Formats: sequence, structure tokens, C-alpha cells
Amino acid sequence: MDKLAERIDFLRQGGIPIYEPGLDDLVARNVEQGRLSFTTDLAEAMAGARAVFVAVGTPSVRRGNGYADLSYVYQAAEEIAANLVQDYTVVIDKSTVPVGTARQVQRLIAKANPRAVFDMVSNPEFLREGAAISDFMRPDRVVVGSGSQRAFDVMREIYNPLYLNGTPIVETTLETAELIKYAANAFLAMKISFINEMANLCEAVGADVKPLAKAVGLDGRIGGKFLHPGPGYGGSCFPKDTLALLRIAQEHGSTSRMVEAAVEVNAAQKGRMIKKIRDALGGSEAGKTIGVLGLTFKPETDDLREAPALTILPALSEKGAALQVHDPQGMGEAAKIMPECRYLDDPYAVATGADALILMTEWNQYRALDLQRLRALMAQPLFIDLRNVYEPVMMREAGFTYIGVGRLQGAIK
Ligand code: UDX
Repeated sequence: MDKLAERIDFLRQGGIPIYEPGLDDLVARNVEQGRLSFTTDLAEAMAGARAVFVAVGTPSVRRGNGYADLSYVYQAAEEIAANLVQDYTVVIDKSTVPVGTARQVQRLIAKANPRAVFDMVSNPEFLREGAAISDFMRPDRVVVGSGSQRAFDVMREIYNPLYLNGTPIVETTLETAELIKYAANAFLAMKISFINEMANLCEAVGADVKPLAKAVGLDGRIGGKFLHPGPGYGGSCFPKDTLALLRIAQEHGSTSRMVEAAVEVNAAQKGRMIKKIRDALGGSEAGKTIGVLGLTFKPETDDLREAPALTILPALSEKGAALQVHDPQGMGEAAKIMPECRYLDDPYAVATGADALILMTEWNQYRALDLQRLRALMAQPLFIDLRNVYEPVMMREAGFTYIGVGRLQGAIK
């Protein structure tokens, strides 16, 4: 159920409002087999339901201050309360919400409809955009927070058929489940900010972050994932959830200095990338043509929320750079936010006449570019790889001046 009639109409016609690999087939299959339907009518959606998932948005209220806007959650709660007319129902919060929200929703529903027979569950979602389906089908764990054994039983009934492979289900309290989501995202954000700092340190001392990350990550206690340096994390989760965690801590008279640092390092990393590009262009980007490959915050999504490109590109164009850009999915949205860029059809058009080519997002189609063709098209062969997709030695041999993030210029093959 969604309130937006246009969205429901679009879904009914077989449309998918977001880009997520495999989602169109999955939705079509389930619609065809009568397991999935769309409506704007909550009563219709809830008729006969034993479980109701709340998955509404919780945007930051205003940029920067970290408050999650809960108005959609509370509004949904009121409306669910009015429709809790049958037997026992489990109301499940999937949205990422501040600690205490599920309990607040529970109170709200109980007050709005004293006759409702229900339990509240917090069941945070850990899936990544672009890998959402496989992350959901094969999660590392499922977290279920509730105060009721009956609710745990319903949740197991829902998830057990999906996870026959023995996915661990962590059953805990409402507040713990809510905090787990923030803790997990904050830890991943810290990992990224940590490796970004190490990359900067590598540049300072003349070391190479790639073998460093590999060796550090091979320690099983650390793990190799989320140790890729880059222009900083973006997206709908890490920036918002780290700030929300800090806000929650503050409201409870506590702090997280580690998470504070991760947020600061991430903001600074975008600034460092601007300086990296400027320095590579000889100290000024004014009058230079800069080609940019990738705009979205990561590949396999059309999502531009908090994408580093949205900070880095306007800073360059303000200083007089002409930007020509490409992204496989994000150009429609980007054109609305950054009308100053020229949006081109393919990477080679972007390279044409460019004084520098910046690899901003590591889409697969940028991993095997025809380097000779690129170099021939560019005004000067300067390749700035903000995702360390290419190897310095290979790029130098192909005739490029190559700059990565924390990479040695290629003494060792
Ligand atoms: C994230 C979490 O992974 C997921 O568990 C949670 O539910 C939602 O937030 P998502 O935002 O879709 O998912 O993307 P993710 O793949 O985690 O990447 C987030 C950002 O970190 C991207 O901007 C990515 O480029 C960046 N990143 C990731 C790095 O810079 N380096 C890394 O090593 C990993």
C-alpha cells in the first residue's frame, strides 16, 4: 500500500519506480502468480493480514542536524491503528528509526485503538542498494526486536521458509534491535573513513593503500570488506544514520566520538578529492574541461542521494571548470540538480577534448575502457581514479598520468 496514487498505478502497469537489478522480474513473477498486488487503500491491504510491515521513509529533517523525520511513521501508525479490527496482528517496523520509536508507535496504536490486539516488532533491514534482492534472500542475520514471544513466533513463521540455510535470527528487545541497525551502519561508515584516512596517510608517507587494505583485511578479526578508499561514502543510509546516531546519543546525554570522527573524515574526504583534482590540473581548474565517469553514490543504482559527485562537481564548476559527464542510470536526476554539466551518451564522448578524466563511480562499464581510444580523444591524458579501479603501472604504460587514492605511482608491478 502506498498513498501515492501515481506510484500505485505505475506499479499496477508493471512499472518499477526505482532502479534495482532483478526487481522487475521478481515483482512481475509474484504479481503474475497472485502473491503480490498494489493498492492505495490501507483497509484493503490489511484485510486478513497477520503481519503489517511499516516501511515508510525517515528522511533527515534538515540537512546536517541529524534528526530523522518520523512524521510518516507516526501517520502510518495512526492509520494502521484504525484498521486493526481483526484478530492478533503483528505490526513490524522496517524503517530505520531512532531508538524508542517502535515503543512510541506501540503506545500510539494502543491509545488510538484500545481494542486492537497486536504486538510491535522492530525488524531492521540491512540490504544494500544494487544488491538488495540477494542481500534480502541471503542475509548475514535477521534482527527481530519485540517484547512478545507470540510476535517472535510469527516472525519465525515469516522468515523460516526464506532462510532454510540456517540464517541466524537474533531475537532481542525493541530498543536493542533499533540500535543494532545504527551500530552496524556506523561501524561500516567508520571502516570506510578509516581506510580513507589510511589512503591519505599512504600518500603522505609514500605507501600503497591497496596491499595495505588487503593485508589488514586478511586478519579475520577485521575482514576485508568495506576497506576500499574513495571519495567518501554517500547514499541514503550512512550519512543519515551516522548523524542520527550522534543525535540519539546526544539526546540521551551520551556521545560517540568514533562516529563523530567518521562523519568529519567523510566530509573532509570530499574536499580532499577537489584538491586532488585541482593539484593534478596544475593548481587551477579554471578554463579546464573535466570529464566525469559516474555520478551515483555507487554503481547499480540510480540513487544520487549524498553522492560525493554532488559536492565535488559543483565546487569544480564554480571555479570555472567545464564539466562533461556520463552515468548509466543517474543522468536524468543529476541534470535537475546540476544543470551546469553537459550530459553525454558514453565514456568516449566524455573523454573528448578533456583535460582530465575522473572516475567517480565504479560502474562495471568503466572497468574495461579502451584506453588507447580514450587517450587519443583527450586534450591531455590525465586520469584521476577516485575508486582505484585501474592499476597505476598499467595506466602509465598506456600513456596516462594516473592518480588514484592512496596508490603508489607504480614502482612495483
Ligand atoms: C548501506 C549498508 O551497506 C546496508 O547494510 C544498509 O542497510 C544501508 O546502507 P547502501 O547505502 O545501499 O547500503 O550502500 P553500500 O554498498 O553500503 O555503500 C555505501 C557507500 O559507501 C557508497 O557511497 C560506497 O561507494 C561507499 N563505500 C563502500 C566505500 O567508499 N568504500 C567501501 O569499501 C565500501
